[in-house]
Amino acid sequence: MLNPQVETYLEKSSLIRKMFTEGARLKKEYGKENVYDFSLGNPDIPAPEEVHKALHNLTAESPLSYEHGYCPNAGLPELQEKLAKKLSDIHQVKVPAQHVTVTSGAAGAVNAFFRAVLCPGDEVITFSPYFVEYGFYAENYGARLKTVPTDDDFLPDIDALEKTITERTRVCLINSPHNPTGVVYSEEVLRRIVAVIESKNSQLDKPIFLLSDEPYRFLAYDGKKVPPVLNQYPYSVVASSFSKDLSLAGERIGYLAISPYLPDAEKLAGAVSITNRILGFVNAPLLMQRMLLKTLNSQVDISLYKKRRDALAEVLCQAGIEFTMPHGAFYFFPKNPLNDDSEWIEVLKRERILAVPGFAFGTPGYFRLSFCVSEETIHNSREAFQRAMKRISN
Ligand SMILES: Cc1ncc(COP(=O)(O)O)c(C=O)c1O
Repeated sequence: MLNPQVETYLEKSSLIRKMFTEGARLKKEYGKENVYDFSLGNPDIPAPEEVHKALHNLTAESPLSYEHGYCPNAGLPELQEKLAKKLSDIHQVKVPAQHVTVTSGAAGAVNAFFRAVLCPGDEVITFSPYFVEYGFYAENYGARLKTVPTDDDFLPDIDALEKTITERTRVCLINSPHNPTGVVYSEEVLRRIVAVIESKNSQLDKPIFLLSDEPYRFLAYDGKKVPPVLNQYPYSVVASSFSKDLSLAGERIGYLAISPYLPDAEKLAGAVSITNRILGFVNAPLLMQRMLLKTLNSQVDISLYKKRRDALAEVLCQAGIEFTMPHGAFYFFPKNPLNDDSEWIEVLKRERILAVPGFAFGTPGYFRLSFCVSEETIHNSREAFQRAMKRISN
């Protein structure tokens, strides 16, 4: 009945699905507050007040039939204009409005871009660990995800990147601040990646795109700066969204932006507008687009995430769990103190801690904890982590 490839997806995701079902069971049995659920990267901080106000005002306006109709596939022109202005400031280069397509989240942006540029057999390179959806997105278009390892600080192995590039490589996909490690790439790291792909381009028929997936750009701690991308390399493209900075993940609103230096950028923008349509997104949710016209400069309070990051770091230190301090996003990716990922996740579960195994990010030997939970939950989990560590030392 099913496409055989999708059949394998079902098998692969069965363990993660089982984990979520188990989590739901634990919450039912012990009460939500007695389960420490660090498994979901689903923003729980309420959307900013301006978002609520804008939505309230929009829905209170007198209904006009065309207001809920289809809009241009690339988005409302006035929103493209405003986004382009904002992106020009961030990326320190003038981004034309036509280079911005409003999409259904960053995921929609990556897919619309992949559909526009990838052919069956092409390769997308990313660094492991990585957001597991990337592999599925590449395979949606008959392409293949290839991964390049990172060092102990989760920074890219640049020599390995060079060796991994082939004549089928079309995209180098980066994600900073990073899910699942929280690493933030410096300008120097970005430059080294660009230098490799730029030098390889001279040997290839088609240039390699640099796709920066950056829905966590706003979320960096300790004074870390997330460097601009669109001014660094002509074939650079940015995918992002308002899922995290406005806590609107379920509302599916984001964008794809193309560097002004890209030759034939208008052609690519036109293609993305078509692929956004024919993948079935048609246009990004219109109410969200109208809301963004009024709230583009708003943001959730990132000091709340910072406090949670610090609290969880303390809990992990006290339990004797090894980790690299995340400087961005809302995840820790600590070392698994056991050899087996599934076994450690089970030990944690016995203490009612829910976490995601490293193999789900292509990197066994680690586990991911998301701090999209209250500070209270983090503090309350302290003894549970200590008990879990005790269990494995006995
Ligand atoms: C690295 C990364 N990219 C993309 C996405 C998808 O984001 P969106 O909700 O904007 O589609 C996520 C969601 O968690 C993510 O972590």
